[in-house]
Amino acid sequence: MEQFLAADEDVKEDGQVDVDFFGRPVILTRKGGKIYAYVNVCTHTGGPVKRDGGCFKCTWHGSTFDVESGKALTLPAEIGSKLTSIPVKVKDGKIYYVYP
Ligand code: FES
Repeated sequence: MEQFLAADEDVKEDGQVDVDFFGRPVILTRKGGKIYAYVNVCTHTGGPVKRDGGCFKCTWHGSTFDVESGKALTLPAEIGSKLTSIPVKVKDGKIYYVYP
């Protein structure tokens, strides 16, 4: 099974698209042409992150996260803690969540 999230063309390189996923905020982004999707809840105290250059940056206290792994790179989030990734695939110009 799969769940539509966004049009592929709407997620630009180094950009972001925020979607509601069954009541949870999910952030979609693209790096190196590949789509990444995470539940948008910082591992520190739950703030939202935004794409900021080559990483995600938390809008509450400034922790940064690696786009490809979702791992925290800087405090105050625990270094190495991870944003929850969402498995996605692109089909016919649309990005879908793929149920495991
Ligand atoms: S909630 Fe993200 S760094 Fe504090």
